[in-house]
Amino acid sequence: MRVGLCQFAPKHGDVKANLDHIARALSRVEADLIVLPELCTTGYLFASRSEIAALSEPVPGGPTCEAMAALSRKSKAVIVWGMPQSADESIFNSAVMVTPQGEFNVYRKAHLFVDEKDLFDRGDSSFPVFDVSFPSPSGRGKGEGAKLGMLVCFDHFFPEAARSLALRGAQIICHPSNLVLEYAHTNSVTRAVENRVFWVLANRTGSETLGEKTLTFNGRSQIVAPDGRLLAGAGPESDELLVVDIDPAEALDKKVTPRNDLFLDRRTDLYLT
Ligand code: ACM
Repeated sequence: MRVGLCQFAPKHGDVKANLDHIARALSRVEADLIVLPELCTTGYLFASRSEIAALSEPVPGGPTCEAMAALSRKSKAVIVWGMPQSADESIFNSAVMVTPQGEFNVYRKAHLFVDEKDLFDRGDSSFPVFDVSFPSPSGRGKGEGAKLGMLVCFDHFFPEAARSLALRGAQIICHPSNLVLEYAHTNSVTRAVENRVFWVLANRTGSETLGEKTLTFNGRSQIVAPDGRLLAGAGPESDELLVVDIDPAEALDKKVTPRNDLFLDRRTDLYLT
């Protein structure tokens, strides 16, 4: 199957412009799965909960989900993207997945970063894994299925999150992000290797300013194989569309050496939980 990512700088507060940008980008790529950055339809820095509430939408049911479902149908790609999700009185920083058949899955960010704590509620999704089939009507891949997990940005600092997904069978971890820490990208390789999964980091570029605060988002999106190989990597500032062909079955083999299996060798009798 072919997996890809789209790295760009979302326009702050302009959902329509961002959806148009995403539609143009997706029209230039053929893939079974495309991952987009965190909060890629709204931008990242907001002054108050009411500001982000005004841009939050139910999942599914809002115009952003409708637009993404139409894009998924048209491009025949499963799309994973980040957006603010409203649910009753709560607002979550969510990753949403839509399939060409119009099925939605959602993950709500569990580990909020810095001032996100003032804007969002902590996610309550217990790291679900979704079994997705890729019909590959265009002849790409073999029409196989794969188990997908989603994390949002800072979640990758907590190895338990990726481990939970891997233990539930995730073969590909989709990671919409707005990374700002220079060393954060190394986590993609570490998390991929320690779980033997494919990792798709879709980071954004550009910067946003709010009062005294400026954040620069540092791109370098990447697709990493279960053995830590960098299959595709983007630059720090450019708009990029990356795709690679992978065999998700590679992530089913947890052997590090013929005598070491990452899951079977775990010492759960010794670990602190
Ligand atoms: C982040 O979690 N957006 C760094």
